[in-house]
Amino acid sequence: MPELDNPIQTWDPERYARNARFVADLGAPVVELLHPQPGERILDLGCGDGVLTQKLAAMGCNVVGVDSSGAQIEAARHLHLDARVMSGERLGFHNEFDAVFSNAALHWMRDADAVIAGVWRALKPGGRFVAEMGGYGCVQKIRNALVDAMNRRGFDGQSVVPWYFPDTDEYSAHLQTAGFKVSYIALIPRPTPLPSDITGWLETFAENFTSRIPARDRQAYIEDVRETLRSQLLDPHGVWVADYVRLRFSAVKPT
Ligand SMILES: C[S@@+](CC[C@H](N)C(=O)[O-])C[C@H]1O[C@@H](n2cnc3c(N)ncnc32)[C@H](O)[C@@H]1O
Repeated sequence: MPELDNPIQTWDPERYARNARFVADLGAPVVELLHPQPGERILDLGCGDGVLTQKLAAMGCNVVGVDSSGAQIEAARHLHLDARVMSGERLGFHNEFDAVFSNAALHWMRDADAVIAGVWRALKPGGRFVAEMGGYGCVQKIRNALVDAMNRRGFDGQSVVPWYFPDTDEYSAHLQTAGFKVSYIALIPRPTPLPSDITGWLETFAENFTSRIPARDRQAYIEDVRETLRSQLLDPHGVWVADYVRLRFSAVKPT
């Protein structure tokens, strides 16, 4: 199924559930920061397969999920959610949400100003924008290994990095320029044990790199990256621990 905005990275809900369920499971702190109230109308931006969206719905919120992946939205609809295919960089809502929520999605959206402008339009006056995303330094070791292994094969690895990992000053500036008042923002290192081998993570999240490698060389490329990361991310118990850093914030659209 074609994806909006990033046609290279695909989101297969079955693979996502197998390799990345921890993403929604670790969303509890940002849900707490959102402090959702029953009856509130909430937009979940980059809702993925809807597992976290469903938690907001179960808390009595009236939730709409949007995601650029048709496959993820189909999975979310199976959970009986109001889920719609829409780019976060071209949100089409006006003055209708009490809050916009997002977990682990904003770093896939390269045009932060377009995202924030759309969130602003979607919120009612007094509405809040509460989110967690990859922050400055997130998966730095993984990224370096992916880039270096591409460079060794004659590609420009840096040019295909898909992620936007801002620090607190940078993202605060984007929010404030749009008119938001930032009530909380923090960069939080969160080393994250993975449910399987690092290859599962690479297959799920690193298609912007792997798909550029000719199919016949792809396995060797992934093995090369894995070998580089073994001494950095494989703990003594045989668990791969990804070097995640989160940027978590809460901002308000003034009345
Ligand atoms: C790591 S998943 C997070 C999903 C979900 N929020 C969760 O906590 O499990 C990232 C999601 O962002 C979506 N995404 C990436 N770029 C997007 C964009 N430009 N607009 C909307 N969604 C986007 C992807 O399709 C994917 O479902």
